[in-house]
Amino acid sequence: MNELLDKLDSHAESHKAEGWSGTFRDYLSIVRANPRVGQLAHARIYELVRAAGVEIDPVTGVEKYLFFQKDLFGVDEALTQIMEYFKAASLGSDVGRRILMIYGPPSSGKSQFVILLKRGLEEYTRAPEGAVYAIADCPMHEEPLHLVPHSIRPEFLSEFKIHIEGELCPRCAMNLENKYRNDIYSVPVKRIFFSERERMGIGTFVPADPKSQDITELVGSIDLSTIGEYGAESDPRAYRFDGELNVANRGLMEFIEMLKADERFLYVLLTLSQEKNIKTGRFPLIYADEVVVAHTNETEFNAFMADKKSEALQDRMIVVRMPYNLRVSAEQKIYDKLLRQSKFGNIHVAPHTLELASMFAVLTRLEEPKIKGLTLIKKMRLYDGAEDVEGFRQKDVKQIKEGTEREGMDGISPRFVINRISAAFTRPGAKCVNPIDALRSIREGIEGHSGMTKEQKERYINLIADARKEYDEIARTDVQKAFFVSFENEAQALLDNYLDNVEAYLDDRKLPDPVTGEEVPPNEKLMRSIEDKVKVSESGKDAFRNEIFRKVAMAQRRSERFDYRTHDKLREAIEKQLFDERRDTIKLTVSTRNPDPEQLRKINEVVNTLIEREGYCSECSNELLKYVSSLLAREK
Ligand SMILES: Nc1ncnc2c1ncn2[C@@H]1O[C@H](COP(=O)(O)OP(=O)(O)OP(=O)(O)O)[C@@H](O)[C@H]1O
Ligand SMILES: [Mg+2]
Ligand SMILES: [Zn+2]
Ligand SMILES: [Zn+2]
Repeated sequence: MNELLDKLDSHAESHKAEGWSGTFRDYLSIVRANPRVGQLAHARIYELVRAAGVEIDPVTGVEKYLFFQKDLFGVDEALTQIMEYFKAASLGSDVGRRILMIYGPPSSGKSQFVILLKRGLEEYTRAPEGAVYAIADCPMHEEPLHLVPHSIRPEFLSEFKIHIEGELCPRCAMNLENKYRNDIYSVPVKRIFFSERERMGIGTFVPADPKSQDITELVGSIDLSTIGEYGAESDPRAYRFDGELNVANRGLMEFIEMLKADERFLYVLLTLSQEKNIKTGRFPLIYADEVVVAHTNETEFNAFMADKKSEALQDRMIVVRMPYNLRVSAEQKIYDKLLRQSKFGNIHVAPHTLELASMFAVLTRLEEPKIKGLTLIKKMRLYDGAEDVEGFRQKDVKQIKEGTEREGMDGISPRFVINRISAAFTRPGAKCVNPIDALRSIREGIEGHSGMTKEQKERYINLIADARKEYDEIARTDVQKAFFVSFENEAQALLDNYLDNVEAYLDDRKLPDPVTGEEVPPNEKLMRSIEDKVKVSESGKDAFRNEIFRKVAMAQRRSERFDYRTHDKLREAIEKQLFDERRDTIKLTVSTRNPDPEQLRKINEVVNTLIEREGYCSECSNELLKYVSSLLAREK
């Protein structure tokens, strides 16, 4: 509780941003001290993302932005492209005059991306380093530097290194002349804080019925009730600058489902992005500086690209594809995040539940591999970063990806999976949801889905069966491991023993016998027994042993630990070897119908180990034992 209050305190502290107001003269000294306050919208967003930290991938050299790390998973390629756009734009390149258009399948994270930028802007403009200032009585909270007359701007550039872009809006131009008697120094300036709710610096537009939706939603409108007072429609005081584009000045404009909007709206956007101007009512063009992020789905996007009439607009877009994530571990993080947001009280999520749901989801998104020997499951593992998958390596991934540009644009969405998992949660009497429950619920969802073809359903249901086969292996391993007092220690000991023997074998020397201490030749029988578990043949054993030793040496060079999990195939071999040694006990204990007291004691011990060590509850650990016992019973 105290910790929570501390957190609230520090949050309140960091959000108690200092207000500021003064004159344009005061503002000039702020700008002189810190020219960055005069930056344009693209640069502001680029800076705020960078401020959260950037990591460079040591292998690929690609930049990874920590800003997105907690909320967006497995869409790094799209994020890299988007950040390249912001970088170029903030350096003044012409790409800043284009709309950023993101397209992808439903629920691939497009809206999530924009939400992060919006929340980021709100926070950033509250922080000292992200402070933004505006002419105090400007309806578009414009950049005060617009007050600097054009004739003086070149000097401004050489003196302060600030390039001033843009003109005063009609209201400010009028005020300067009448209210401030052309004395730019006395114009009031204040610090502003972006806020979507308060319609400051962040705008959103959702297309509705084109017949009823008015362009004023974007560009504002004449306030008819005040025309009498001001005499003319063209009087800037009679205009309400409250369209979304006015609101979003200096910040971000989100255009949801952009291509569903009427052409009239798109042309307003065209001028805005290309000329940085808004055409409003009876005024000359009004300068605006904002980032326009639009998103849409693929069908609409393709229709748009095929339409000759929209060429002008196509030219003014930077298009980024945001396909579904293709990594099981990242998918799991998505579900984890979404489930944490929902309230399912104290229903337990059994180990591997989200993992299996993720496997299924990723499988539906992968294209059937055309390379011999490569199954969909192997591909899934390789994409998730597995180093060694029978017959393939990480370095093959590039080749595997060739010709699969559409991969990730189809398949099951995270939203669908989460809805199905939630359905399993809300089943009457549910105490715990395990992988089988989740897969069953997904299956029911697919069977009852009206938007899928028969072939699609069939394919997905087969993929559920594939995922289920993976689960059989996982379930069995969990139970088998629980039979050991300390599985890790025993596995590590066996690994060390194996490596000692392999080393001696490769060096062609003897090693001390663990019991007698006498020098003996390497234990060929032990090595072969382990290697046999992963089908390493007699003729292939030298290659295998050499490879293992290369990996050990590599780990040593990098001061990394080489444990029994480091090498996938070796892990499998070690596990199987240990399980084999206890095979009969395990099988007898788990599958017996009438356990004797000793077996009963062992079963209780295994259940406890599952609960304490592996995160099972009493419900799912018992389900697991039942499941594995039926698996073992089917074995010869
Ligand atoms: N790659 C991802 N990383 C993290 N969360 C994701 C990812 N993809 C989807 N989500 C989550 O799934 C939900 C749906 O995503 P979002 O609303 O961003 O999709 P969208 O691409 O805008 O879809 P639509 O086209 O249907 O509007 C959100 O809660 C989002 O957080
Ligand atoms: Mg969306
Ligand atoms: Zn203004
Ligand atoms: Zn449970």
